[in-house]
Amino acid sequence: PVLVIDFGAQYAQLIARRVREAQVYSEVVPHTTPVDEILARNPAAVVLSGGPSSVYEDGAPRVDPALFQQDVPVFGICYGFQAMAQVLGGTVEHTGTREFGRTDLAVTPESGRLHEELPASHPVWMSHGDCVTRAPEGFTVTATSGGAPVAAFEDVERRLAGVQYHPEVAHSPHGQEVLRRFLHEIAGVRPQWTTASIVDDAVEAVRAHVGEGRAICGLSGGVDSAVAAALVHRAIGDRLTCVFVDHGLLRAGERAQVERDFVAATGVRLVTVDARQRFLDALAGVTDPEEKRKIIGREFIRVFEQAARDLQAEAGEQGEHIDFLVQGTLYPDVVESGGGTGAANIKSHHNVGGLPEDLQFKLVEPLRLLFKDEVRRVGLELGLPETIVHRQPFPGPGLGIRIVGEVTAERLEILRAADAIAREELTAAELDRDIWQCPVVLLADVRSVGVQGDFRTYGHPVVLRPVSSEDAMTADWTRLPYDVLERISTRITNEVREVNRVVLDVTSKPPGTIEWE
Ligand code: XMP
Repeated sequence: PVLVIDFGAQYAQLIARRVREAQVYSEVVPHTTPVDEILARNPAAVVLSGGPSSVYEDGAPRVDPALFQQDVPVFGICYGFQAMAQVLGGTVEHTGTREFGRTDLAVTPESGRLHEELPASHPVWMSHGDCVTRAPEGFTVTATSGGAPVAAFEDVERRLAGVQYHPEVAHSPHGQEVLRRFLHEIAGVRPQWTTASIVDDAVEAVRAHVGEGRAICGLSGGVDSAVAAALVHRAIGDRLTCVFVDHGLLRAGERAQVERDFVAATGVRLVTVDARQRFLDALAGVTDPEEKRKIIGREFIRVFEQAARDLQAEAGEQGEHIDFLVQGTLYPDVVESGGGTGAANIKSHHNVGGLPEDLQFKLVEPLRLLFKDEVRRVGLELGLPETIVHRQPFPGPGLGIRIVGEVTAERLEILRAADAIAREELTAAELDRDIWQCPVVLLADVRSVGVQGDFRTYGHPVVLRPVSSEDAMTADWTRLPYDVLERISTRITNEVREVNRVVLDVTSKPPGTIEWE
């Protein structure tokens, strides 16, 4: 692999994704990893990430000089570029000229490999206080900027290079090309990380892990569990059984979508548990959002656990045992829980909500090395339909946290109908890819006066909450076209009898959250 050494900025994962976009497999490792461990993994190249530190600070993370004694290609970015310059004998100074944000990069006439054929001046994204004022011996300075006398250097012979700017961010429009040139042309790494190879490797790994064993997988209707199940099914066929819990808090058509589309695409064996009444009973009289979440989570585990026991009993009659539980854990979760390299120290993330230990399943996590965009591509490669692969996020507690007030069967029907109309119109307007998600919220305890035909009405409002976001941590309200809003509003108030008002939520996150509860 290409190892991205994380110096503690938020960019290491993004760099790893960009390396993979250049079709080279990469992993993130913490900067505290001893250099022998890094070299023992036989990396095709090492990338040193940016970081918040100054190389002068006490305790600033260092680069071990031993890294440069093994003929491993190294690429330094921002802090990693300065740390590399320092350890190789260049000069890093605190000149007082800082650069933050968009900066013009001037490519020197001896442009070198990295910036060959790129415009002589082009924008890059910078974020630094210190700068390299003299490149180490043997390096050519290939670019400069107003605040960075050495903004890029390379020693093609030794396969070492670095840039002061951040090539991984979208604000550096030629950044991906520069990274690609380092990997393919300077480091000489061959581009072999393709969706087809990801599928082959993952299938192989699942077969090796599960052997002749049997596995179950809880499907949530979301992308990750669907792709994980499809992969495991390709690996072990009918020794996988999927369980889908219908908690009654789903949107219109979701259960059918799993039962029909997913099964049609994969041929997987699926057991649906109809637990609608059970969840309604458990939620009766509850209005507090956190309490709703807790109840839904708890009931979900119980139902899934029972289904697993039933399947176990059924399999046991034929002398078989279910040993494995499939989870759709993704690579960012693995990195964030301190893993990345070996499997030993990695916490398991429980997508089905934290299963009790006495179930004693071993985990199968076929997506644990993949980023979300790779998971979607794998899903398409495995033949899953776009409707599953490009599904927008939907919370586990479902419509239960989109009814402000008590959850009842009747209110769920109202919300499902309104939500279906909003989704239909957004899809028809081809806006699905532009929005992150659009919760529709029923204000079940609010009533307002309206008039429909010649009659006075006294109905409930629904709220449209269209948002744009990169990662759901922050979000902005989406400026939907008025004609689309008009169609949604007209249809909901005409077709859903109990709703007589449609309102639009124009709050960003923060201060609002995406969901109302
Ligand atoms: P908020 O409302 O916190 O939502 O801005 C951020 C993202 O998380 C989703 N969400 C949940 N997902 N269980 C989930 O699986 C939950 O309890 C939950 N609450 C919110 C929400 O839809 C949005 O994408």
